[in-house]
Amino acid sequence: MIITGVFVFFSLLVFSHGANPCCSNPCQNRGVCMTYGDRYECDCTRTGFYGENCTTPEFFTWIKVTLKPAPSTVHYILTHFKGVWNIINNISFLRDAIMRYVLTSRSHLIDSPPTYNSHYDYKNWEAYSNLSYYTRSLPPVGHDCPTPMGVKGKKELPNANLIVEKFLLRRKFIPDPQGTNIMFAFFAQHFTHQFFKTDTKRGAAFTKALGHGVDLNHIYGESLDRQHKLRLKKDGKLKFQIIDGEMYPPTVKDTDVEMLYPPQVPDHLRFAVGQEVFGLVPGLMMYATIWLREHNRVCDILVQEHPEWDDERIFQTARLILIGETIKIVIEDYVQHLSGYNFKLKFDPQLLFKQRFQYQNRIAAEFNTLYHWHPLLPDTFQINEKEYNYQQFLYNNSVLLQHGISEMVESFTKQNAGRVAGGRNVPAAVFRVAVASIEQSREMRYQSLNEYRKHFMMKPFKSFEELTGEKEMSAELEKLYGDIDAMELYPGLLVEQPRPGAIFGETMVELGAPFSLKGLMGNAICSPEYWKPSTFGGNVGFEIVNTASLQKLICNNVKNCPYTSFHVLKNDNSERATINASSNSAPLEEVNPTLLLKERSSEL
Ligand code: HEM
Ligand SMILES: *[C@@H]1O[C@H](CO)[C@@H](O)[C@H](O)[C@H]1NC(C)=O
Ligand SMILES: *[C@@H]1O[C@H](CO)[C@@H](O)[C@H](O)[C@H]1NC(C)=O
Ligand SMILES: *[C@@H]1O[C@H](CO)[C@@H](O)[C@H](O)[C@H]1NC(C)=O
Ligand SMILES: *[C@@H]1O[C@H](CO)[C@@H](O)[C@H](O)[C@H]1NC(C)=O
Ligand SMILES: *[C@@H]1O[C@H](CO)[C@@H](O)[C@H](O)[C@H]1NC(C)=O
Repeated sequence: MIITGVFVFFSLLVFSHGANPCCSNPCQNRGVCMTYGDRYECDCTRTGFYGENCTTPEFFTWIKVTLKPAPSTVHYILTHFKGVWNIINNISFLRDAIMRYVLTSRSHLIDSPPTYNSHYDYKNWEAYSNLSYYTRSLPPVGHDCPTPMGVKGKKELPNANLIVEKFLLRRKFIPDPQGTNIMFAFFAQHFTHQFFKTDTKRGAAFTKALGHGVDLNHIYGESLDRQHKLRLKKDGKLKFQIIDGEMYPPTVKDTDVEMLYPPQVPDHLRFAVGQEVFGLVPGLMMYATIWLREHNRVCDILVQEHPEWDDERIFQTARLILIGETIKIVIEDYVQHLSGYNFKLKFDPQLLFKQRFQYQNRIAAEFNTLYHWHPLLPDTFQINEKEYNYQQFLYNNSVLLQHGISEMVESFTKQNAGRVAGGRNVPAAVFRVAVASIEQSREMRYQSLNEYRKHFMMKPFKSFEELTGEKEMSAELEKLYGDIDAMELYPGLLVEQPRPGAIFGETMVELGAPFSLKGLMGNAICSPEYWKPSTFGGNVGFEIVNTASLQKLICNNVKNCPYTSFHVLKNDNSERATINASSNSAPLEEVNPTLLLKERSSEL
């Protein structure tokens, strides 16, 4: 009894004056903090820094740090000087060297193999090996820390509803100045929901997407069982139905796969695809339909090339081709658009063959959180004169049959999406989703916005005004959070001052790009043993991958080959000429290559 009492007294004493010293994040420059009793030590191994807090640069590091331009400078150069970039883009060794630098400098910011997860703030085998968790770029804040952000800020964070109401909720639609369109928004949602599939039954820390990357489980199903139910078992194809002479996904009844639909949805509109939530929005089902058609189209080509192959081999090879097409489109159309760069990005796995690069990937919880780009969403969805509010649009697959894919593509290409950064642009329809993003971040004990900025090589913000670039919201944020070092990641990303004329602020890009490029290039098909024609059924398949583009995906699978892009039309004639050249379906083989070139040159 007495001994226990003394022990409790003693440990309370130690605990009270020696709260975990790592809570204050003393180790800089990616040094690792470890406690010894109530003391801490920083492990600065291979950080390029030394000293108690890893703050003193080694000579070589000092040179690098001194010469390294700020992210805003690099961004400025890449988004200006169009004339110079037009020349560089055409000099292949320069373009390759710059692209190689982009890929390595970004992906080196991602720990690979992965380290922490939301339940472990130190390295261990369970955290490394349990694929049900999203990994973490920064470990969670310790439960024994004095405040939710470590030591900074108040003991309790402001109410999440209040944050969303005051700073995130849309007052009036703010169009994205980069001209991002709804075609982009739904591509983003469709593409990312293959690796952002939170296992809500287990909690925000867990994922159902065990492939942790671009495996196209949103087309083929996460489990082998689901895949087999979706397959036709002939010529490698997926099951489909023909409506009005066009191919659509099969129904739940035809396939016996589970999909999430509310009870009032009639059987004939319960389309079944790889991802079970894609009945949510017709925009998702539109892309699901397009990719289904692409898979079956590629199968037809492979069967011609390889009449000797069985269904299984055609299917598997087509899947690899579609993975390659996806990565190509995401880098050269999607990221190209988002970046606003005049430098022409290139998908070429060979660029990394002589670099130190791990062909593996683990999706991070922070990547998921930052990708909650709901400000992209408009107030209403416009399809060819018809306007849908959320209630009419969500879970309404009859939109697809009413308009057909072609009309949807045309309309979504013309409709502007919202600006993501700058605050106050989340539509009321997804209010709850924004609140959930904040609450889940707290549940997972995310570190502060500034800790993430430091981890991704940015200077921490010194004030709320520096964060938002204005006075009103920043003053209110300061009142609520108390300290800029206690500002949370997600609301921070959404209220951050956008770069001039851009959709995002600096933090979104500097955090998002490394996760994104690592996930794309870390794919197995990008590794030296995979990246060759035979993997894709020969030169014909390899060529499909190497020439893929959004416009081609649409032209090859959508009636009338409507013009498309990830941005609305800019008001210059070069682009209008491009559209006239492409519209009204000339033979595909003739249209695509020229269209590709024209569109590019008008952009650059
Ligand atoms: C009409 C359109 C949309 C609706 C109704 C919608 C609704 C939702 C809902 C209800 C959730 C789950 C929130 C929770 O955790 O409780 C969610 C998650 C998410 N949304 Fe959206 N969303 C839409 C469009 C988009 C778009 C355009 C993006 C763009 C990237 C996006 C990105 C995400 C991401 C990354 C998640 C997390 C997914 C996960 O962890 O499983 N959403 N959304
Ligand atoms: C290291 O950080 C701690 C805590 O922030 C601080 O008290 C100490 O002075 C720092 N040491 C050096 C050498 O800067
Ligand atoms: C770029 O180079 C290609 C051949 O490498 C050439 O056909 C094209 O005209 C060049 N374009 C410009 C703008 O210099
Ligand atoms: C992963 O961790 C969760 C939570 O601890 C546990 O329920 C699950 O069984 C683990 N999975 C594996 C494969 O060990
Ligand atoms: C669903 O879309 C169809 C086709 O445009 C439309 O006629 C119908 O009213 C919509 N359903 C609801 C519930 O709004
Ligand atoms: C494109 O076509 C439209 C009509 O379809 C026409 O009004 C316009 O002048 C054309 N633009 C150019 C640049 O040819």
